[in-house]
Amino acid sequence: MRTVSFKQELVDKDIVLSVRHLKQFFTVGSGASKFRTKAVHDVSFDIKKGEVFGLVGESGCGKTTTGRSIIRLYDITSGSVYFKGYRITGGTRWNEKEIKWTKIRGKKQIAELNQQMRDEINDSKTENEEYNESLIASIKARYNEKITAIKTHINEVRTQEKENIAQIKYDNRHVDPQLMSKIQMIFQDPTDSLDPRMTVEDIIQEGLHIQGMHDRAANSNRVVEVLEKVGLIADYASRYPHEFSGGQRQRIGIARAIIMNPEFLICDEPISALDVSIRAQVINLLNDLKDEMGLTMMFIAHDLSVVKYFCDRIAVMYFGELVEMTTSEELFRHPLHPYTKALLSAIPKPDPLSEKKRKRIIYNPLTDHDYSKEKPELQEIIPGHFVLANNAEIEKYKKEMAAADAESVVEE
Ligand SMILES: Nc1ncnc2c1ncn2[C@@H]1O[C@H](COP(=O)(O)OP(=O)(O)OP(=O)(O)O)[C@@H](O)[C@H]1O
Ligand SMILES: [Mg+2]
Repeated sequence: MRTVSFKQELVDKDIVLSVRHLKQFFTVGSGASKFRTKAVHDVSFDIKKGEVFGLVGESGCGKTTTGRSIIRLYDITSGSVYFKGYRITGGTRWNEKEIKWTKIRGKKQIAELNQQMRDEINDSKTENEEYNESLIASIKARYNEKITAIKTHINEVRTQEKENIAQIKYDNRHVDPQLMSKIQMIFQDPTDSLDPRMTVEDIIQEGLHIQGMHDRAANSNRVVEVLEKVGLIADYASRYPHEFSGGQRQRIGIARAIIMNPEFLICDEPISALDVSIRAQVINLLNDLKDEMGLTMMFIAHDLSVVKYFCDRIAVMYFGELVEMTTSEELFRHPLHPYTKALLSAIPKPDPLSEKKRKRIIYNPLTDHDYSKEKPELQEIIPGHFVLANNAEIEKYKKEMAAADAESVVEE
C-alpha cells in the first residue's frame, strides 16, 4: 500500500517550482463537431527561489492554462508539477500511451522477427532431413530468445508505468492543502475574478476560511493589514467590487492572494486590463511585495516590453509550446527564435527617430522553418539559453550570436 507521496529528488535545492512535460488538452464541442485543443503541449521549466519568471506569448498560446494547471484548477492531461519538491499535480495520459505504444511496437517487431525466422528456415533447408531438424531448432532458439526479450520489455514497461500511474493518482488525492495555500494566483481580469455579491472583506478572507481559520476578529484584522499593504484603506473592507476602479480592483485581487502568506505568486497579466497610467503603480506594488515577502513569481504577459525589467528569466510560448527561454538580458541581447524576434519587433521605441525606422517582423512558422528532414527540440545553445530548433538552425543561431557580439564590440 502506498503511504508516501512522491518527492522529487531535487538536483538544485533552490528550485521552488518544477514543471515537467506539462500537457493540457481540452475537448471542445460534442458529437460530430467534437475536437481536441492542445492548449499546453509538453512544457517544462524550473523556477528558483526569489526569481521572477516571465511567461510571454500572444493571446491563446496557453499562458493562463499553464498557470491554472499549476494551481490545480484543472486535472492535467500529462506530466507533473512539483512545488518545493512535492508533486502537487500529475496527469497519466503519457504513461497510458507508453504502455499502449510499447505493446504495439513490440507486436510489430515480433511479427517481423517471425517472418524473418520463416524466411531463414526456408532458405537454409537442405536435402538432409536430420540436418534440417537441428538447423531449424537452432534458428528457432535464436529468434525465440529475441522475441522473449521483447515480451519481457513490454511487461516491464507495463509494470513500471502502472506503478507510475498509481503513484500519480495517489499523489493527486493526497496533496497537502497547507502546501497548496503557499501558491496563489492573481487573475487576468480583476472584474471577472471578484464576486460582485461579496464584500471586499469577504473576498479577501475567503482563503482563510477554506484553510479552516474562522476567528472573525483575527480574520478582520488580517484583512485590514493586507488592505494597507496593497495601498488601500481599511474602510474599503465593507464595500463591493463595483465601487472600485480597475487598478483598485486589481489591488483587491493582490490582497486576496497575499493574505495567505504565499511563497509563490502567479501573476496572470495583472496589468493588461488596466489604464496605462496606473500600470506602473501596480508593477511597483508587486515589486515591493516581492522584496518584503521574499516571493518567487511567475509573471504572465503577452508582450515583452512589460517583462523586460521585471523578470529575471523569460520563457516565450507559441501555440502551447516553449520556443525560447533564458535570462531577460540574454533574450534581449540574443533573440534567436523567429517568434521571439517578432515579439521584440512589436515593442514601440521610446525615441521617435528609431520608432519611425522600426520594422514589424511577422512570424510565419511554415516559411520560417524547414522541419521536413529534422524535427525541432528545445536545446540549450549556450548555458541557460534554450531554443526550440533543429541542428541546422542551432548552427545558424550560433553564427547569429557571434555576429551580434562582434557588432556590439564595434559599437562599444
Ligand atoms: N476551459 C477551456 N476549455 C476549452 N478550451 C480552453 C479552455 N481554456 C483555454 N482553452 C483554449 O486553450 C488555448 C489556450 O488558452 P489560454 O487562456 O491559456 O491562453 P492565453 O495564452 O492565456 O491567452 P490570453 O493572452 O488571451 O489570455 C486557447 O485556444 C483556448 O481557447
Ligand atoms: Mg490568459
